[in-house]
Amino acid sequence: MSYLILGIETSCDETSAAVVRDGKQMLSNVVSSQIDVHNAFGGVVPEIASRMHTEIILQVINQALETAETSAGEVEAIAVTQGPGLIGSLMVGISTAKALAFSHGKPLVGVNHLESHIAVAHLENEIDFPFVALIVSGGHTNLYMVRGFLDFELLGSTRDDAAGEAFDKGAKALGLGYPGGVEIDRLSKNGDPDAIRFPRPFNNESPDFSFSGLKTALLNHIRKNPVKSEENLVDVCAGYQEAIVETLIDKTLNAARKNGVEGVVLAGGVACNSRLRQLSEERIRSKGINVFIPSPALCTDNAAMIATLGYHMYADNRVSALDISPYSTARRDQKNHVS
Ligand code: KG4
Ligand code: ZN
Repeated sequence: MSYLILGIETSCDETSAAVVRDGKQMLSNVVSSQIDVHNAFGGVVPEIASRMHTEIILQVINQALETAETSAGEVEAIAVTQGPGLIGSLMVGISTAKALAFSHGKPLVGVNHLESHIAVAHLENEIDFPFVALIVSGGHTNLYMVRGFLDFELLGSTRDDAAGEAFDKGAKALGLGYPGGVEIDRLSKNGDPDAIRFPRPFNNESPDFSFSGLKTALLNHIRKNPVKSEENLVDVCAGYQEAIVETLIDKTLNAARKNGVEGVVLAGGVACNSRLRQLSEERIRSKGINVFIPSPALCTDNAAMIATLGYHMYADNRVSALDISPYSTARRDQKNHVS
């Protein structure tokens, strides 16, 4: 049996729709980003995000269906991000998905955005279970033990800022644009990562992370040593990025060893970071552990990831009722780790 799943994603500032066959083959993945609009405000403005999703969502869905040469009446099920995310933004995707599901008589599948960041890695690679997955995004830094397509155990998470937040707040302090991770990544390419050594936060055996102290260290550094030249700026960026990236890699490698897995998946927007991609190859693969990182377009928010996880949920009969509501933070049953 071959299933086409329509995925819809509106949790933050990307409006996206995709069609994926059998959780394996991506037939379309349309992403409309609002970044340019939010850039002027230095971060995502929730009310503007919801309005922009409303304006464009039908167009994005139609384009995804057209590119995949199918229609809402022909897909097997409709998967939509249920949370976590901005409630107003999630509401737009969920309401649209409910209307489509009801009018075409299709099952609705409410998908967890974080788990779908991991699931999308299966589109490009055959990955054996179990593996350890690190999700690094604007709002989350989570380490999971993954034992099956629908079996995610949270091992650790950040106690304060997420890695993406550390990039974005650091960039803001340095007067750079939003999203800051992209800017710091670009500038760091010309900098020396060892010129300025920032602290490696929470550098111990715990699978939890903490990035707010690193942000304070950056603020203190630039207060005492104001950035006066491009040469200095690129070194500050490279040093700051190195501290974040090394921490992420050390913790992931630790978790992989402790749990005896042979593979790790890095996912979420921060997994686009070129230094993280490079250093994880060097430091994790050299220990005999396979590293899988989705291509950058599948690391940032997109609906192919929703359709991929949606397929596995649908195949496992995890269909949602038409009265589901969005949730803003990670589900309670995911916070099952002891820190
Ligand atoms: O997963 P994502 O697209 O959205 C969320 O669900 O949050 O992640 C967005 C985050 C932002 O914090 C952004 O600065 C960061 O991913 N990011 C990067 C890079 N590209 C995006 N961080 C570091 N280096 C990058 N190249
Ligand atoms: Zn995300």
